[in-house]
Order: sequence, then structure tokens, then C-alpha cells
Amino acid sequence: FGLMAYDPAYKNTASCRSAITLIDGDKGILRYRGYPIEQLAEHSTFLEVAYLLLWGELPTKSEFDGWVDQITHHTYVHQYLIHGMEGFKWDAHAMGKLVSLLGTLSTFYEDSKNVRDPAVRREHIIKIIAKMPTIAAWCFRHMQGRPYIYPDNGLSYVGNFMNMLFRMAEPKFEPSPAIEKALDVLFILHADHEQNCSASAARAVGSAETDPYCSLAAASAALYGPLHGGANEAVLRMLREIGSLGNIPGFIEGVKNRERRLMGFGHRVYKNYDPRARIIKQLAHDVFAETGKNPLLDIALELEKIALDDEFFVERRLYPNVDFYSGLIYQSIGFPVEFFPVLFAIPRAAGWLAQWQEMLMDPEQKIARPRQVYIGEGERAYVPMDKR
Ligand code: CMC
Repeated sequence: FGLMAYDPAYKNTASCRSAITLIDGDKGILRYRGYPIEQLAEHSTFLEVAYLLLWGELPTKSEFDGWVDQITHHTYVHQYLIHGMEGFKWDAHAMGKLVSLLGTLSTFYEDSKNVRDPAVRREHIIKIIAKMPTIAAWCFRHMQGRPYIYPDNGLSYVGNFMNMLFRMAEPKFEPSPAIEKALDVLFILHADHEQNCSASAARAVGSAETDPYCSLAAASAALYGPLHGGANEAVLRMLREIGSLGNIPGFIEGVKNRERRLMGFGHRVYKNYDPRARIIKQLAHDVFAETGKNPLLDIALELEKIALDDEFFVERRLYPNVDFYSGLIYQSIGFPVEFFPVLFAIPRAAGWLAQWQEMLMDPEQKIARPRQVYIGEGERAYVPMDKR
């Protein structure tokens, strides 16, 4: 095979050179464009972080105001998308709908196919970041059988999203400042994570010069999986199934016997505590101070304590990841479990778009096309069906 290397799941192959996000998995470090995630979570906002990821620098006041203004004025989504939504069964999974509707949206924007034009790219980056909360909220309302709520441009990014989700009648829904802030911080923490499965999907599909809507539909499909963004949903289901502290030892034995995985634990890159999980654990206390403690928290805390002390997990360097505590917060805010991966997808769209744009701007990149090591039959002659 000449110089070709066999590297299943690309565990040791860098597919690109990137200046967006740095993860040091051994030290538990995560930085966007050089800024530590802890500082961004404490001081920044999701829209500022989206700007940073996409354009490389923190915005000045006037750049930021212009950015927020543009995003705010593209939140409206064409009515016809609702016809697409109406084709789904009432209990269709929200991620299945999101994947489909992102693909559908590409048919509204023929010009988005001109991906080599920076102005076109910028226009559709803004449209996608603006429209993700609207589409997501409509998926939620469809799931609940409630009328769709249109964007209110007088509200913040998260405030508008929550109003479209939870508004029942006049007046508009107003989340408590603590909850609005918590969701914004969760959005910051989920905004990018370098070459994960979904970002790689966005890059691979985008490398064929596919438009950004379809590239993000592919990324969302990757995120849907329970080993990736679907893990937050799987954690909540797991905690519910465990049900009480007394059932934890039996559950852990099952994990060690490889009957199942401890969802929300382990990571391809982090071999230390995921810094996002540490921030989310703290955030959970702020949210529970408003909503009351999620009764599943004690089970999660005890699971973590036992796992961090157990040889099986220690040897394999398995620590809680971003999904371990996020679901507890989402549930306390009032989201059903089927909606959790969508809450991951909304902010991750900023990261996918940054990765997609960087790939298109990189003169070394070409259409993604991995090689293989062929292990099938040698040449053989076709046998007619009646002779087999
Ligand atoms: N529970 C039990 N054992 C585990 C777990 C887990 N959660 N994760 C890894 N292991 C074991 C695995 O069985 C293997 O053991 P052995 O070497 O004895 O066969 C060893 O640890 C290495 O596992 P791996 O599957 O080779 O590791 P990977 O890097 O391919 O997988 C992972 C990473 C995240 C898919 C995996 O840790 C996992 O399935 N975790 C649970 C799902 C989850 O929480 N996913 C969210 C990831 S973070 C957010 C995101 O990326 O979306």
C-alpha cells in the first residue's frame, strides 16, 4: 500500500490544520481561538463566542452590535418550512426533524451553493445561526401539538428562543435571568469541539462544495447518535432507569461486565476531567437554586463518585464528559429528553460553520476521500444464478 497508513476511526490522523479550537485532553484544557473556556463561560455571551469562532477575534463594540443586529434580523423562517414540519408524525424525534428541515432549507437558498464566494458564505452563516433557534423551537411546538410562535426581535438570542418554546398566550414568556444566563453559558460550552464526529461530517460533506444547509444537515445527523450529541438524552434515560442510589452498585457491575456503557463518561480526546463538565456541574447548582433540585442529581453525583474511585474507570481514564450533567439542567428548565440533542445542535452550528468555512479557505484541502485497505476476495468469474 505504499505510504498509506491504516488508521480506523482516524484515531491518529490529523485531517486538517485548524486555528479554531484547542483541546489538550491530558490536561483537561479547552480553548476557543486561544481563550480558555472557563473565561468565556464567565465573561462572554454565546453570540460573541460565535463571532470569535467564525472570524478569529473578539469583536469590538461596533462589530458586536452589527453582528447581533444582523443575526436578529434573520431569525424569521419561511412559512413553507412549516408545511414540511406538518408531514412528520406528532411523536417524531426532534433531531430527525431538525436534520430534515436543515436539508429542506437549502432548497430555499439556491445562491448558498456558491460556497467559494466569501460574501455568500457570510450571508448564509448569519442566516443559519439566526434561524437555528426558530427551527428548533418549531420542532418543539410540533412535538407538543401547540401553535408555532414567531421570533420576537426585541428579545435576546436565548430569550427569543425560550419565548418561541414556552409562550402559551399573552404576554410573552420571560425566563428568569438566571435560567436565561445558564442556557447562554451552555450554548458557549457546546459551541465547538474541534474535529469531533459531527464537525468532521460537516467538513467532509462540505468538501464536495455542498451548500452549508446540507453540510449542517449531515453534521446534525452525526450529532444525533447516542455516542455523540445523543449522549445527553441517553444519560437522562440511564439515570431514570437506575432510579435510586441502591441500584447504582448493580448498574456499575453491568458496565464493568460490558453489558452497557456509563453514558456521559469517557471521551476520545479527554483523558482527564472534561472542563465543560466541571463548569456545567457548578451551573447546575445555580439553576437548581431557581427550579428546585433535580431528584436525579444525587444519583449522578454518586455514580460519578463511585466511577472516579473504581479501577475499571481509572485504568481507562474515563471521566464525566459534557453530557453527564447537562441533561439534568435541561430537564429542570422544562425540556423533554428527546429535545436535548437539539439544544446541543443550536450552538454547535457556530462551530460547524467555522470548521466548514476554514476548510473551504484552506488551499491544502480537497474533497474528503479516505483510502481503504481492501480485504475482500481476489478476482473471480461471475456465476449465473442457476449454477450457484
Ligand atoms: N462506559 C464504560 N466503558 C467505557 C466507556 C463508558 N462510557 N467509554 C469507554 N469505555 C471503555 C471501553 O469499553 C474500552 O474498554 P476496553 O479497552 O477494555 O475495551 C475503553 O474504555 C476505550 O473505549 P473506546 O470505545 O475505545 O473509546 P473511544 O475513544 O472510541 O470512545 C466515546 C469515546 C465517547 C464514544 C466513549 O467513551 C463512549 O461511548 N462514551 C459514552 C457515550 C458518551 O458519553 N458520549 C459523549 C461524548 S462527549 C460529547 C460528544 O462528543 O458528543
